[in-house]
Amino acid sequence: MIKNDLFLRALRGETVDRPPVWLMRQAGRYLPEFMAIREKYDFFTRCQTPELASEITVQPIRRYGMDAAILFSDILVIPQAMDIEVLMKPNFGPYLPEPIRNAADVDKVQVPDVTQELDYVMQAIKMTKEKLAGEIPLIGFAGSPWTILCYCVQGQGSKTFDKAKEFCFTQPEAAHKLLQKITDTTIAYLQEKVGAGVDAVQVFDSWGGMLAPDDYQVFSWQYIQQIVDALKGLVPVIAFGKGCWFALKEMSQSGASALGVDWTCSARNARYLSGGNITLQGNFDPSRLLSPPEEIKKRVKRMIDEFGKDKYIVNLGHGILPNIPLENVEAFINAVKEYHE
Ligand code: CP3
Repeated sequence: MIKNDLFLRALRGETVDRPPVWLMRQAGRYLPEFMAIREKYDFFTRCQTPELASEITVQPIRRYGMDAAILFSDILVIPQAMDIEVLMKPNFGPYLPEPIRNAADVDKVQVPDVTQELDYVMQAIKMTKEKLAGEIPLIGFAGSPWTILCYCVQGQGSKTFDKAKEFCFTQPEAAHKLLQKITDTTIAYLQEKVGAGVDAVQVFDSWGGMLAPDDYQVFSWQYIQQIVDALKGLVPVIAFGKGCWFALKEMSQSGASALGVDWTCSARNARYLSGGNITLQGNFDPSRLLSPPEEIKKRVKRMIDEFGKDKYIVNLGHGILPNIPLENVEAFINAVKEYHE
């Protein structure tokens, strides 16, 4: 059904001639054609207008020919749909004017009817699938409940997410109630996305690594596990936890099809910790895309040799940075396409 199914085959653990490649945050951030759209429409207008979201999604594919597309959207559409105000301030990032700080705040949070509240995402998926015309798979995504809680409680990005952690450690009951509401919303949302046509799903636990290993299990992983369970048999799930190498063992036993790895964990260690049998995705240091193209090519070849070409999806260890030269992205993608043992 899908012409280039390299990505789906890697998720199933099948033998391939070369690993598939896509980049986290490939849609929107560094492309001039994206910047042109960005000048005309604010962030949530871009997310909420299916014509714009689908166009931004296919822009990097047209330019570089990645093996999978990821829908242009944001993890913060979930709190928005839950009736929590989320603003995207230019040159600042997400800003939530009324952060959640106690049990009464949590009680006010809605578990919405996602079919209604997030219909614009489903329309964007359908339009994107038409534009992709069966060439490559489309990835849908959500933030992990913990990562969403981080923004809901902190109210903005943070180097430490100290207020989010304080909330969890001083009011655990309220924190778990909020995490469960986010989880229930996220499950309904991702199931709806599958119905709309996404071929795989990635859960971004961008701030999982802020937690100590035991707290990670309690405040993050158990909720991601619920999401993985709820999508079983529907589409493959990729669990990406930034800084979560310590949890790779539990993650590998979860039923997820693949695990994302960041660049602070070696390929060898990631294979060892994850038991050697599950598909891994990663883990080029996003800043390494600033190296000259020839150096990038050498390092990509080495990275594939280290992970092995099978059960492996080439990616960065986190999202692409906005200041990466276009020809360096091209060198990265082409190095994967030219790979041979
Ligand atoms: O490939 C893609 O880019 C698909 C779309 C996508 C966006 N956000 C668009 C976006 C995806 C997959 C995300 C995920 C996301 N959003 C995460 C998890 C991944 C990660 O990077 O850790 C997180 C933590 C967010 C929250 C968020 N949204 C932040 C912190 C910011 C500001 C900083 C920045 O530029 O990333 C955003 C805004 C945002 N989301 C932008 C884009 C293209 C930039 C704002 C703009 O274009 O005006």
